[in-house]
Amino acid sequence: MPKLGVNIDHTASLRQLRNGIEPEIISCAILCESAGCDSIVVHLREDQRHIQEKDVYLLKKAVKTKLNLEMATSKKIIEVACLAKPHQATLVPEKRQEVTTEGGLDVLKNAQKVADAVSRLKGAGIEVSLFIDPQRKQIEAASKLVGMIELHTGRYANASLASRNKYLDELVDAVHYAKDLGLIVNAGHGLDYDNVVPVATIEGIEELNIGYSIICQSVFTGLGRAVKKMKELVS
Ligand code: PXP
Repeated sequence: MPKLGVNIDHTASLRQLRNGIEPEIISCAILCESAGCDSIVVHLREDQRHIQEKDVYLLKKAVKTKLNLEMATSKKIIEVACLAKPHQATLVPEKRQEVTTEGGLDVLKNAQKVADAVSRLKGAGIEVSLFIDPQRKQIEAASKLVGMIELHTGRYANASLASRNKYLDELVDAVHYAKDLGLIVNAGHGLDYDNVVPVATIEGIEELNIGYSIICQSVFTGLGRAVKKMKELVS
């Protein structure tokens, strides 16, 4: 049974809409932990469009499970990570204009850059994972640099129902290949309440990292109570 890492970036997206403090990110992390999640995941993007640098320092102090910092191989963000010392850093590709991480890190093309980032982070005592597409050549390249990967499940999650099984098979093959190479295997991106079970059932996956669908679902599970509470106050 895989562990669950909850990505709370989009509570910060909501907060940034008004540049205020609500919803307060530390309370969100504590709530996720008390609901049983196994780690808190945040992506400190270079443009800091949701998670801010100061959030990372505060989260490191508050998180009781594990703080997994998603980040690009950028010099500035690596410096922040080395200061904040999250329990884990997950290196992801980052494009300024993208709405969310669009694909996995190309470890083959960016071998030296990734190797340098891994060595700096490891030197600061941070465990490092690489977010890659479920392709054997990427897994093999990653295995030369790290002991942990996260497989990008976006192609599976975005596939039509007719082609979903093809991408599930691709994930199964990738997990087995990575396990044979001795890697710890996590997975995530685009997983939701309809598509998560087949992925959670793949043997060998250590942790699933899920964000957007959980934050969306929380609107529906929480909105009724929020309205009732306000109604009581105004009447
Ligand atoms: N894993 C990684 C590496 C990601 O970049 C993201 C998105 O920030 C996720 C998991 C979670 O994706 P989603 O928000 O679609 O669940």
